[in-house]
Amino acid sequence: MDNPTVLVTGATGTVGSALVAALQERGATVRAMIRNPDRPVPGVENVVADLRDAESVATALKDVDGVFLNSPSEPDAAEVQKRFAGIARDLGVERFVLLSQYGARTDSPVRFLRWHAEVEEHVKGLGLDYTVLRPNLYLQSLLAFAGTIAQGFFAAPIGDAAVSAIDTRDIAESAAAVLTSAGHTGQTYTLTGPRAVTHHEIAQALSAASGREVVFHDVPAEQFTAALADFVPPWQLEGLVEDYAHYARGEAAELSTWVADLTGRPARDVTDFARDHAAVFAQA
Ligand SMILES: NC(=O)c1ccc[n+]([C@@H]2O[C@H](COP(=O)([O-])OP(=O)(O)OC[C@H]3O[C@@H](n4cnc5c(N)ncnc54)[C@H](OP(=O)(O)O)[C@@H]3O)[C@@H](O)[C@H]2O)c1
Repeated sequence: MDNPTVLVTGATGTVGSALVAALQERGATVRAMIRNPDRPVPGVENVVADLRDAESVATALKDVDGVFLNSPSEPDAAEVQKRFAGIARDLGVERFVLLSQYGARTDSPVRFLRWHAEVEEHVKGLGLDYTVLRPNLYLQSLLAFAGTIAQGFFAAPIGDAAVSAIDTRDIAESAAAVLTSAGHTGQTYTLTGPRAVTHHEIAQALSAASGREVVFHDVPAEQFTAALADFVPPWQLEGLVEDYAHYARGEAAELSTWVADLTGRPARDVTDFARDHAAVFAQA
């Protein structure tokens, strides 16, 4: 489709903000869905809507050709996404791209993966022209650890397990490709980085990029939980611990070539991520 109009949900978020630019580079017209009108996304049309407010969602979806659905990991995530997809179908949206997660499964012990699988199942049954993206752990998640990384360490309950973590810029560029080209209907693309890395290897990449030693400490889930209890709500912390247990079991180390296949260039490595964010980790 030439010059489609695409609604980007989560347009202020990690993937969404990069997707706005990636879509523009591909000639799409972007409508950014935001919650706070005082913080518009620059250079594009903005629409104020909340996933929990069906009326505002219907307004946001009016007259768009494609949509990128990205929901925060909150307990009602499946419910709001299913409702959003139903409204998009009723309004005749042509392309529907759903951000899910690597390993989404209805019987997963990881709540986030169950929620994503529930939404995937629902979307598949709506008769939409859909594509599911299942990215692995975001390298940008490390930015949440920037405070301790600047002090020389970070810690998580993951052991020596390798994870094919991905740079969110590659998720955005893959999503932009799917939203602006044909041949993706009904596909589920698992998106990973170019190799699986342990957190010790991530620490090495951060050390090399910053010129200062950064070490990784494997810690028990209880210690990880105690360190974050003042900052992260219990349901989210429990979900994070489930996520890390899934990584620690070695369940997130597979590689896929979809980033390169969709974008025409290799996925960014952790060394690229570390180099491009060295200043953030130095001054947090
Ligand atoms: N982190 C990972 O490693 C990882 C890996 C795979 C998949 N995922 C998936 O990625 C998704 C996004 O996660 P994230 O934590 O990285 O978040 P994010 O996309 O960086 O931020 C969440 C976005 O959603 C918006 N938002 C929040 N509540 C909203 C609402 N009620 N209505 C409309 N928009 C709302 C936020 O807008 P405001 O600016 O208004 O807050 C923000 O733009 C989740 O589904 C997660 O499971 C994450």
